Amino acid sequence: MAWTILKSLHCSHLTACAFPENLKPACAVRADYKSTQRRFSRQQRFGVVVGGQLAAAVTGARGARPAAAMAATASAPCRVFQTEIITLAANELACDGAGPSDEKAFHPGIAKAAAALAAGEVVAIPTETVYGLAANALSASAVGKVYAAKNRPADNPLILHVSSLEMLASLYPPGWSLPPLYQALVRDLWPGPLTLLLPRSTLVPDTVTCGQPTMAVRMPAHPVALALIAACGFPLAAPSANSSGRPSPTLARHVLTDLGGRVPLILDGGACTCGVESTVLDGLRDPPAILRPGGVTREQLAAYPGLERLLVYRRDFVDPQLEAAPSTPGMKYRHYSPNARVLLLDPGDAPVAGGSDEQLAARLRRGVEAVLAEELAARRRAGGGDGPGTQETRPGEEQQHQKLQGGDSQQPIGHTAATPVMHVGVLRTSLPGLRPGPLSPQLKGSSCGNGGLPVAAACAQPAWSRNVCSVELNGGLRAPTDVVDGGDAMQGGGRHHPGSKQLAVAEDGAFVDAEPLPYYEYVLGHVSRPAEVASELFAALRHMDEVGVAVIVVEGVRDTGAGVAVMNRLRKAASRVVAV
Ligand code: TXA
Ligand code: MG
Repeated sequence: MAWTILKSLHCSHLTACAFPENLKPACAVRADYKSTQRRFSRQQRFGVVVGGQLAAAVTGARGARPAAAMAATASAPCRVFQTEIITLAANELACDGAGPSDEKAFHPGIAKAAAALAAGEVVAIPTETVYGLAANALSASAVGKVYAAKNRPADNPLILHVSSLEMLASLYPPGWSLPPLYQALVRDLWPGPLTLLLPRSTLVPDTVTCGQPTMAVRMPAHPVALALIAACGFPLAAPSANSSGRPSPTLARHVLTDLGGRVPLILDGGACTCGVESTVLDGLRDPPAILRPGGVTREQLAAYPGLERLLVYRRDFVDPQLEAAPSTPGMKYRHYSPNARVLLLDPGDAPVAGGSDEQLAARLRRGVEAVLAEELAARRRAGGGDGPGTQETRPGEEQQHQKLQGGDSQQPIGHTAATPVMHVGVLRTSLPGLRPGPLSPQLKGSSCGNGGLPVAAACAQPAWSRNVCSVELNGGLRAPTDVVDGGDAMQGGGRHHPGSKQLAVAEDGAFVDAEPLPYYEYVLGHVSRPAEVASELFAALRHMDEVGVAVIVVEGVRDTGAGVAVMNRLRKAASRVVAV
């Protein structure tokens, strides 16, 4: 939007957010003196708040309680801002203590954000999982602005973010202390993508917990987030910084797309390395359960005494009470949905998922071809008088996912006679030897979310590749011959495109005339590396929206390890799930 401005104080991005062991878990932040001094005059020109003002702001914030005195304004109207972006580099932040103190100088960007938060504003911040939209977790009015900016349903609770164990302990209800299981998890996995349910603190307003008897807390493993929380001196409530229902943001510019003009400030800390949200663990229930799979895997958690019987919600059990109260992410509300319709190829628990990576990859490639053939056939039928929305399915081949709210219809977008070309996006996990990123050359320059990695080498194809196939619809998927170049020769980031072929679909035994189906491709990663896929997932979905496809076909991964979080998000985003 015209009134969105961009102020980049420094261009370098974070490339890693690991913390030295001796710095865990309590962190405070000190600006790199030299770089701070170098930029000081520039930042003054930009009006960035520095040291003394920050200290005053933090002091003010500490006095700004109790939360109960503040009016809950979850339904407050969203205001209009000129959104400012401040870029911070990891090497500008040092982490060496438990909280702000006078002798430490703070990075001006952190200082400005902390002052805004202390004044009850919202600020979008990077974390290692996704960008969050942060507010003072102890201020109901500040938290209300988060709901308003995101257009988030008022009954969907928020996660509190802390920067130290001291800050965590300040939230315990009287007489409560961290149980041994949580002690071990916090020791080993914080800072990191693990959210723990704790008994609710009386300090935390209802707008954060939404009436739950528990509160969700995590310590993010991102230097900017930790620096900011430590500078604030109070916990930050932060949901993902997307517009409610959209894919979570993994780059600052994703935040700008969704919330530009709705938030005053975005801290740009580079691409989120994890790419999916934190794992939400309820260790208070018996047996313990993962309410949302995320960056820490079930396998990692199950190694801890007390978590041997760890369940995964929806996979291992369903609780009508949890469904009714949306305490488990994605239960009640539409989640992770791009504008385009998502068709998911799901290896699920099928025997093939236990096969080799090559077998699974080949199966996924054939699945893409079959699904695209069906889409084209449906589109032709719709254009030919069957009417839009005529989409036949074969029993046993697919699960239909009904969106719980605002869900898509099953009608393929673009299936109208008035839409001559149905643009399709294909998110690949089946192509070995390629780095993540968009494949089409005209999309190469896009900075959307390949985590800073170089994208695959340019291919000599037009903006869309004419990958088409021959599919026999006889109740199963038959491998079309020589349709997709399997990628054996794809080392070094290059790709041999399969070239143009005619799509021919057998309908009632008869092949119809072919027509090219253009599609964009984006390499998510490879089935053998689900964590890589996770880090690209949301950026890829957003990328496909940006190029304007109507349908996104996604090759899935196995439902184990880091793949559990990936498939959880994809199943929620999908209008149609096809077992492969
Ligand atoms: O990685 C993450 O967790 C990111 C970053 C920003 O930290 N945050 C995030 O927040 O994903 P959000 O709001 O998009 O998802 C948090 C989910 C909510 O959907 C909510 O259902 C669940 O955590 N949650 C929060 N408090 C809860 C509680 N007391 N009991 C059960 N679930 C809770
Ligand atoms: Mg979210």
